[in-house]
Amino acid sequence: MLKVRKATKRDIDSVVEIHLKRFSNFFLTSLGKYFLKVFYTAFLKNPGLLLILEDEGKIKGFAAGSRDNRNFFKKLLKNNLFEFVFSGAQILITKPAALKRMALNAGKSEKNNLIYAELLSIATLRNKKGYGKILLAEFEKEIAKENIENLPLSLTTDYDENEKAIGFYNESGYEVYQIFESYQNRKMYRFIKYIVNK
Ligand SMILES: CC(C)(COP(=O)(O)OP(=O)(O)OC[C@H]1O[C@@H](n2cnc3c(N)ncnc32)[C@H](O)[C@@H]1OP(=O)(O)O)[C@@H](O)C(=O)NCCC(=O)NCCS
Repeated sequence: MLKVRKATKRDIDSVVEIHLKRFSNFFLTSLGKYFLKVFYTAFLKNPGLLLILEDEGKIKGFAAGSRDNRNFFKKLLKNNLFEFVFSGAQILITKPAALKRMALNAGKSEKNNLIYAELLSIATLRNKKGYGKILLAEFEKEIAKENIENLPLSLTTDYDENEKAIGFYNESGYEVYQIFESYQNRKMYRFIKYIVNK
């Protein structure tokens, strides 16, 4: 049986495992397992949202995001300051180049004035059961539940060599909001979908 539910602390190891399997070439992954644990744990608190998909009692996917992008990363950091500082110190010792890159990128993030709820990370283990679509639909429902300002839902994804994810979002009703360049001139889409409060 398939089930989508809110994550608890006990799910974080499985989330990190799936992240490592499915995002092998992503920058966040290069920061290591400990950082990823701290990162995903931070989504357990509002305005963060972390959902888990279970099939026959086994965790097969997750979706992480925020109900409101305004100052979201500041809040994430503030709510979990000790953990992030500690993992930052660890990265400073093991991967100083990664920390330098974070500092350089902090100042030149994407410019837009849009206010939105945001899907920041979604991944499923390979399947032929529509895990991703089910997770995304539940994520939208969960955001819509507490969406007083009727914010749209947005996300970014790679422009190049990313047909599977782009098709997945198109099929789920997402439209291109803008195309922009992220760090190292990586071309990205920002997608958007207007969801309705129920
Ligand atoms: C992008 C991602 C989250 C999509 O999730 P997904 O579970 O693969 O996608 P779907 O919901 O379409 O389901 C997977 C398959 O089940 C199939 N399926 C079988 N029965 C189905 C049903 N009843 N309903 C819907 N789909 C069904 C789909 O056709 C799809 O087949 P395909 O992989 O051959 O296209 C996932 O591929 C992933 O984790 N990718 C790596 C990480 C990533 O890129 N994340 C997004 C970055 S922004």
